[in-house]
Amino acid sequence: MSASNRVVLSSDHAAIELRQTIAAHIATRGWVAVDIGPTTPESTHYPHHGEAAARLVASGDCRFGIILCGTGQGIMMAANKVKGIRCGVCADTFSARMIRQHNDANMLSIGVRVVGEGLALDIVDAFLAAQFEGGRHATRVEMIDALEG
Ligand code: RB5
Repeated sequence: MSASNRVVLSSDHAAIELRQTIAAHIATRGWVAVDIGPTTPESTHYPHHGEAAARLVASGDCRFGIILCGTGQGIMMAANKVKGIRCGVCADTFSARMIRQHNDANMLSIGVRVVGEGLALDIVDAFLAAQFEGGRHATRVEMIDALEG
């Protein structure tokens, strides 16, 4: 099974519906959506869900991860604690494209209380379509990764 077209999705309770909408959307773009939940609306803890998605990206099981919480911030902070993860929160398509082109981000975080569904889908499309440019940016990404020790 190739990881190259697999995208893991995860969220806390705040973003279940948007996460499922994004999963269905990326499937129409040819990606395999690996939606690891949660599926029930009970209050839960975003660090757990951010870590779970990040582990699947860091292990190579999935090429990218898309994670969501109320702001996108807490779950992003958790994901970035996992070695090998570069995750950015995006509320605009320019940033979503640039974190791939310049930062080689392997995860995208979105705040369901920050952006509406239409913009969220555009952000996802921009992120998944962009390519890392390498060159001088590769040197800087290596510097980021070196901070992990
Ligand atoms: C949950 O209420 C909220 O704190 C969470 O979704 C997220 O916004 C945290 O960063």
